[in-house]
Amino acid sequence: MTGPERPVERILVVGAGAMGSQISMLCALAGYRTEVFDVSPQQYEAALQALRPRLAGMVEKGRLREEDSEAAFARLSFVADLDDGAQHADLVIEAATERLEVKQDIFRRLGMAAPAHTILTSNSSTLASSHLAAASERPELLCNMHFFNPALHMECVEVVRNPNTSDATVETVLQLARSLGKKPVLVRREVPGFIANRLMGALQKEALGLLAAGVATMEDIDTTARTALNHPMGPFELMDFVGLDVVNFISEAAYGETGNPDDAPDPQVSALVQAGKLGRKSGEGWYRYP
Ligand SMILES: NC(=O)c1ccc[n+]([C@@H]2O[C@H](COP(=O)([O-])OP(=O)(O)OC[C@H]3O[C@@H](n4cnc5c(N)ncnc54)[C@H](O)[C@@H]3O)[C@@H](O)[C@H]2O)c1
Repeated sequence: MTGPERPVERILVVGAGAMGSQISMLCALAGYRTEVFDVSPQQYEAALQALRPRLAGMVEKGRLREEDSEAAFARLSFVADLDDGAQHADLVIEAATERLEVKQDIFRRLGMAAPAHTILTSNSSTLASSHLAAASERPELLCNMHFFNPALHMECVEVVRNPNTSDATVETVLQLARSLGKKPVLVRREVPGFIANRLMGALQKEALGLLAAGVATMEDIDTTARTALNHPMGPFELMDFVGLDVVNFISEAAYGETGNPDDAPDPQVSALVQAGKLGRKSGEGWYRYP
């Protein structure tokens, strides 16, 4: 059987960082034989060290059985060579560093090494898959599969089709996301930020505008989002959680693509980033995290 009608049994995840490690564990937990490739082999041990306590926590809370956790780790393996991993895969989820030339090189190699039926997806937040179509030489088997951080827990997956993605590819990727326990949404056309980051960007923009105009403090803006809109976090808290460098990067990418000054990075956020205040991960952003 060729093409995406073939059932997905083996998955290759490219990149074992914050996203790739959890995405690969999601696949292993759902029963897929999962291989992971990273250019930095030390990432493998780091990924395992991050995953073990997370799964132990799930077992402790009764959300996962001990034997299922062990079986998932047994289904997960690391490969030393991208081409080797690609040769066995029915579907690839690329979660490598967010740089176009890095991803184009990966998709060029995947396009050559993977079997003809293999679907190629990218978890990129800002690079739509049409940027990778020429490199992969299989645009109909290509789309974005955008997970959210932390991927083990966040339910949304945005499946973003490029103008050439086939209906069968879309259906297979939606089905895969459901089988991972996610609630996928379909983005029918490539737009910067897809759905979630656009919604988040709109709320952040308004919050930053209110703060800059002195209308309210950031604490009161966050409180309003939580208590009036029922958001679990206010926009400033969320920016600190995501990372202010990431927030800035998403704006830069959108601005680079649209040229619309409304999409340009906010100077208040840029100033914090320049001062090394990146949010929770650096101990300080809008708020302090002692
Ligand atoms: N962090 C988030 O909140 C988030 C959320 C959704 C999507 N994403 C997307 O996920 C992707 C990865 O982000 P991350 O936060 O996991 O980054 P990360 O820096 O934690 O991990 C990236 C990994 O890619 C590896 N890598 C670099 N070049 C490679 C190559 N040529 N082949 C294989 N591996 C390579 C690095 O060694 C690193 O381990 C990016 O495209 C990003 O846009 C990130």
